[in-house]
Amino acid sequence: MTQRPLYSRIIGTGSTVPPNCVTNQELAERLAARGIETSDEWITARTGIRQRYFATPDTMTSDLALTASKNALCAANIDPQSIDLVIVATSTPDSVLPSMACLLQHKLRLRNDCTAFDMQAACTGFVYALTIADQCIRGRMCRTALVVGAEIISRLLDFDDRSTCVLFGDGAGAVVLQASEQAGLISSVLHADGSHTDILCVPGRVSGGAICGQAFMSMDGQAVFKLAVNLLEKVALEALDKAHMRAAQIDWLIPHQANIRIMQSTCRKLELPLEHMLVTVDRHGNTSAASIPLALDEAVRDGRIARGHTIMIEGVGSGVTWGAAIIRF
Ligand code: ACO
Repeated sequence: MTQRPLYSRIIGTGSTVPPNCVTNQELAERLAARGIETSDEWITARTGIRQRYFATPDTMTSDLALTASKNALCAANIDPQSIDLVIVATSTPDSVLPSMACLLQHKLRLRNDCTAFDMQAACTGFVYALTIADQCIRGRMCRTALVVGAEIISRLLDFDDRSTCVLFGDGAGAVVLQASEQAGLISSVLHADGSHTDILCVPGRVSGGAICGQAFMSMDGQAVFKLAVNLLEKVALEALDKAHMRAAQIDWLIPHQANIRIMQSTCRKLELPLEHMLVTVDRHGNTSAASIPLALDEAVRDGRIARGHTIMIEGVGSGVTWGAAIIRF
């Protein structure tokens, strides 16, 4: 007997940001105390960012992941024991070992035999994680997945480097993905090109009981900008082509929230009205792997995204990695 085609659908979303909101003005004052000059005007004009949230030193990335996951599980209204796959996309795990996914599995008291692993694809991490979870469900390896993007990226920021420290913020977003006979994730494309490793990196490593090399983020902003604008258009068209769809059929574009100028450029190239793009970068800054699920959850909760809407998510990040997915919500 042939099996019916199986899809995966998002049945619940959740998110969180830490309570400590830092406006551009406050950040500029903090940097001024270190002799670094910046301004609300510069940050807003160049990036679209007005504020971001920073975790306190006693908060772990898994704490943010836990809250976002609880919210997603509550929205999905399912027994958490039915979760048989956990993927956490992050570049800022609590520890080198064990994985964030295992820590989260335990904190949530999920089944103690489910599959759990982390996904390191920087800002594209959530697109990667969702795609792999979808493939695990379609391949009938599991039925219900918790897919999380969580970051405390502020721990990687050098507050003496004004070209990076004003860009990022902390947060987490999560979705519950479940097997369904109805299409959910329609198409997805993932790419990487390791020849660009040095334009955006944290080269430090743990060795001999110490951190060797620089453990702060370093970025060639202009190189990343040019690459991002180019890759995001290409990958969006690729995902549309794979889904046999046109951009006009997309109800909501959720780009990785790095810089409003990059996001608007993609939107214009796809000839999508700017009102069809979700924007949280103004309030969250760049939260790396958390930015897409954070924006998704916000729009689901305020009613902009409704059942039946077609969503495109896409991102580019360190690696470089890039990818896009089209989702029927
Ligand atoms: N405040 C004031 N001036 C600043 C600041 C600041 N915070 N930062 C840089 N400047 C200065 C520079 O020193 C430079 O001065 P100069 O002309 O005297 O040398 C001037 O502003 C212009 O700097 P640029 O780097 O040319 O500014 P640009 O317009 O390119 O904007 C930015 C910089 C915002 C970083 C932009 O390049 C960008 O957004 N790049 C992409 C970042 C991104 O998308 N990252 C995504 C991936 S993140 C991940 O994967 C973890």
